Amino acid sequence: MGIQRRRSWRFILLFFPLLVFLPLLFSVSELHRNSKELDQDLGSKRSNKFDHIVLGPAAGEGLSNRLQCSGLEALNKTHLSHISHAFNCSEIISFVTVFAVYNSSQSDEKLSDLVTVGNNSYSKAARSMAILNTYINFIQVSMPKSNVIVLSDPASELLIRRNNVSLLHIQGDYSRGMLMLQRIKSYIAFLETRYEEHLQGKHHLNHYIFTDSDMAVVDGLCDMFHKYPDFHLALTFRNNKDQPLNSGFIAVRGTPDGLQKAKIFLQEVLEAYSSKYMKASRMLGDQLALYWVIKSHPSFDVKRFSRPEAFMNEIHGAQVLFLPCAIYNWTPPEGAGQFHGMPLDVKVVHFKGSRKRLMLESWNFFSSSGSDISDMLCLILKSGRTKYDF
Ligand SMILES: *[C@@H]1O[C@H](CO)[C@@H](O)[C@H](O)[C@H]1NC(C)=O
Ligand SMILES: *[C@@H]1O[C@H](CO)[C@@H](O)[C@H](O)[C@H]1NC(C)=O
Ligand SMILES: *[C@@H]1O[C@H](CO)[C@@H](O)[C@H](O)[C@H]1NC(C)=O
Ligand SMILES: *[C@@H]1O[C@H](CO)[C@@H](O)[C@H](O)[C@H]1NC(C)=O
Ligand SMILES: *[C@@H]1O[C@H](CO)[C@@H](O)[C@H](O)[C@H]1NC(C)=O
Repeated sequence: MGIQRRRSWRFILLFFPLLVFLPLLFSVSELHRNSKELDQDLGSKRSNKFDHIVLGPAAGEGLSNRLQCSGLEALNKTHLSHISHAFNCSEIISFVTVFAVYNSSQSDEKLSDLVTVGNNSYSKAARSMAILNTYINFIQVSMPKSNVIVLSDPASELLIRRNNVSLLHIQGDYSRGMLMLQRIKSYIAFLETRYEEHLQGKHHLNHYIFTDSDMAVVDGLCDMFHKYPDFHLALTFRNNKDQPLNSGFIAVRGTPDGLQKAKIFLQEVLEAYSSKYMKASRMLGDQLALYWVIKSHPSFDVKRFSRPEAFMNEIHGAQVLFLPCAIYNWTPPEGAGQFHGMPLDVKVVHFKGSRKRLMLESWNFFSSSGSDISDMLCLILKSGRTKYDF
């Protein structure tokens, strides 16, 4: 009895200071934040964006097939084993992305335009380069045996000095207004060259995944080439009436058949883009064209987009694999949270639109805190992106 009581006293003495000071610690950091916000508001009236991540509730709470988080700690450590999976891949996978550099007028840059993530500050011009580097970082962590090919304008002075990353110049019009159209043209030119090289016996099997550079690959992607051995190209879809397809992720099997059928398919998309969607928003034309090619194919039933399950369909001679965005192209919650949380097996996170800063923040969290990928996914899931961006 006496011992029991002494123990409890020791317990209380030990934790009492913590109980008292913990709330204080929080409020001090809150104060710090608030004063920062105040400074910011006073400093520039037009900008009331946060300069730090704001954490909210994690969508999908209580659902057994969705990531569960306690603070910034993942309760389901599903992404610990991803590296062992990646090492099992017998073929090379190359990630291909189009990257354009634009002249920024230095005189427009103000000190207040600097954005700080972790220990680094980025000017406007440095931000897109930081996104590209972060894209490469994630690939090298999740799929260390893969490489990255950056397609770019020969006229740009882009320099990338990273292992396993190569720069490939493809002639074209990379101006902002034409970029999405040019991107399809560059993909086609790339596939054409790879096909020719294949015919000359220059290459062993190498699959290609064409992606936006604002994506984080958080798991191995080799499996899909084995799990669905018959597809020529793969696209990602979601249950969205007007825009069920996202053009940010296109996988192509590296066989001569795959390269050629994917090329012909993209030529159809290019044709639809040029003839129907040139007036569409410069961002969305390729997506609308992609959807048009698919929905106007007689054998296609758009109802298949309503269920998030992978399926195959033949389109213009190509076996097209449709993969759910929820796993291969997951976007941080917008509004009500499109996907109702994060599936445990999410493989690619897309920092679409105004979520770019969160991509840098996520990498910073992962690389500097000793946390794992699963914990980082909690950060992404919980961070409200409202008013938080470049
Ligand atoms: C994920 O973690 C939660 C909380 O620990 C648990 O209830 C749930 O069963 C886990 N899900 C899976 C699929 O293991
Ligand atoms: C690795 O590949 C071999 C065959 O190449 C297969 O039998 C094995 O199941 C794979 N392991 C994993 C973890 O995928
Ligand atoms: C960028 O600026 C340089 C020098 O001002 C100019 O020579 C070059 O043509 C510009 N490039 C583009 C893509 O506008
Ligand atoms: C990546 O680069 C390293 C160092 O140059 C090289 O040893 C390795 O083979 C490369 N890996 C791939 C997949 O190209
Ligand atoms: C950031 O700066 C601090 C203080 O200089 C240093 O201790 C820390 O290691 C740095 N973090 C990274 C990720 O470089």
